[in-house]
Amino acid sequence: MIGVFDSGVGGLSVVKEMFKNLPNRQIIYFGDTARLPYGTKGADFVKKYSEKITQWLLDRGVKIIIIACHTSSALAGDYLKKQFPNIPIFDMITPTANKISGLGFGRIGIIGTPGTIKSKAWENHLLKLNPRLKIYSLACPLLVPLVEEGWVDKKATKEIVKEYLGYFKDKKIEGLVLACTHYPMLNEVIEKVIGRRIKIINPAEILAKEVRNFLPASAPLQAELRRGKEGNHQFFFSDEPYNFKKICHLCFNKKIEPTILDPF
Ligand code: DGL
Repeated sequence: MIGVFDSGVGGLSVVKEMFKNLPNRQIIYFGDTARLPYGTKGADFVKKYSEKITQWLLDRGVKIIIIACHTSSALAGDYLKKQFPNIPIFDMITPTANKISGLGFGRIGIIGTPGTIKSKAWENHLLKLNPRLKIYSLACPLLVPLVEEGWVDKKATKEIVKEYLGYFKDKKIEGLVLACTHYPMLNEVIEKVIGRRIKIINPAEILAKEVRNFLPASAPLQAELRRGKEGNHQFFFSDEPYNFKKICHLCFNKKIEPTILDPF
């Protein structure tokens, strides 16, 4: 079983990529809807709940942890890896940072929550790999509630995306990283606004491939993971997930029964 967690429903965009790349794996998902958003919370809060959720998933028998939440990845990723050194933990930053640094970009844009951007986690990862890379990062806090409302193709949303992405106009970026669970659901409008010449990078796609490639190298883990029943996924939320059907529809057009449970 693979444990996936997020602050809420946005992590389903990561599950979407996992369904595509790891179709035979059983997923246990936890969305902390009782405490979201994480994007505007402090690091101590995010670390505390990310750790509690990780432990809870491990208690349920998962063998791998995916930190689907970008804010948790930025604020708590390194901390969780230290606290749980014996389990593979994947965050949303490392696989994409590794990949980007090999693609020859000179200038890159990052958009995410205020917490992710303020943490400078992307800069820290990327500049270690390529100190010459120019990175321009921008918090886009209004995009999360727009997606949760299902407003992915409204005129107002396009205007707001335009307003935010105007920041990159004179930056000559070659790629833009969607460093928030919700932003891939706005992919179409972002692409229209920023233009097709700029490569849009969805870390969820890169992460899912990374996990897929990691598994064959780990034979005992393979066997453990196979013990779970195929397709028998479980989706837990610490409170009622808002607009759940709509978000499921935006992500994968699959019907999912959420279980409401707040273990904390
Ligand atoms: N899941 C969060 C992220 O990817 C976005 C929503 C929130 O702020 O909790 O950063």
